[in-house]
Amino acid sequence: MRPTWVDIDLDAVAHNISALTNLVAPAEVCAVVKADAYGHGDVPVAEAAINAGASRLAVALVSEGARLREAGIDAPILLLSEPPVESAPAILQWGLTPAVYTRPMIEALAALATSPVSVHLKIDTGMHRVGASSADALGFADLISESPGLDLAAVWTHFAVAEEDAGFTRTQIERFDEMLHALRSDGIRVPLVHAANTAGAILFPEARYDMVRVGIGTYGLQPAPSVGGDLGLRPAMSVVSKVAHIRRHPAGTRPSYGRRRPLPSNGRVASVPIGYADGMPRLLSSAGEVLIRGRRYPLAGTVTMDYIVVDIGNDEIEVGDEVVLIGRQGDEHIRAEEWADLIGTINYEIVCQIGPRMPRRYRP
Ligand SMILES: Cc1ncc(COP(=O)(O)O)c(C=O)c1O
Repeated sequence: MRPTWVDIDLDAVAHNISALTNLVAPAEVCAVVKADAYGHGDVPVAEAAINAGASRLAVALVSEGARLREAGIDAPILLLSEPPVESAPAILQWGLTPAVYTRPMIEALAALATSPVSVHLKIDTGMHRVGASSADALGFADLISESPGLDLAAVWTHFAVAEEDAGFTRTQIERFDEMLHALRSDGIRVPLVHAANTAGAILFPEARYDMVRVGIGTYGLQPAPSVGGDLGLRPAMSVVSKVAHIRRHPAGTRPSYGRRRPLPSNGRVASVPIGYADGMPRLLSSAGEVLIRGRRYPLAGTVTMDYIVVDIGNDEIEVGDEVVLIGRQGDEHIRAEEWADLIGTINYEIVCQIGPRMPRRYRP
């Protein structure tokens, strides 16, 4: 077996969900488990989140919802965007709760429904990715309300910059409140209202409405360095491997593809079986570090598809020693944010990219 794996701390997931549930109560928490639960493993995370107090789950794809249903999860599953209209039968087959924002999808679901199907009408208030325009929203709400096969269970929106631009987020909240007012004035009943992602839930109490949709916070990561640091969220993912091979080389030796970095002194290089095919970004080649025996060591050269090389100098390190790529070892901690900062991206992308080639080990 390959000695490289991802440790997922389900206790941390449960802790994070209860911290967020306490924060937003009486609003409900919907745990966003799309993209294989941001790389953490959809079914175990979904179960842990539901057991810890999340009342619903959300996914991006019909296939993601189907996987949860096949695993026996019966909590409500919100589909965050409309799939192609041909997927309408699959939405019903798997008992998913679709976001709707186009007439063809609303009509397709209405035509297929044999008993009332709950739908969540999504209104675009400024994200400009998917959603009904405010001009269309009222008409769609009427269409849904008049369709015997459909139940307008919720109206919702999504923030574009909740973690970094309070002004624009307040504008989105105002636009959304105006839409809710217009719908209600038109006699439309809106049983559930939701808007906030993790950053919105933390920073904008007025945007918690009846439910928040938390993704990154579920995994113990902050939506941005300045957001949620005081909530005590615990990162759930660690990425771990073991030293597979060690060689001694003279100073000036340039290990790995491209021969980019000379060893500064005579010393040893440890090869560790994790690479960019596993989600370790190749862009970390020049600045990435790993933890072995509780100390930081720099990479000795380019990240390859299946291996990294680590400059361990003359320290006492042996084949089989554990190597932490992301996570804690002793007093040291490498966070997903450290990788993200080094390569100019966000922690979301780092954890989502930890690939399916790596087995997940779940604790407890
Ligand atoms: C529509 C929608 N709601 C909620 C979320 C969760 O966002 P976050 O991970 O920032 O909490 C996402 C994630 O991208 C999303 O697309």
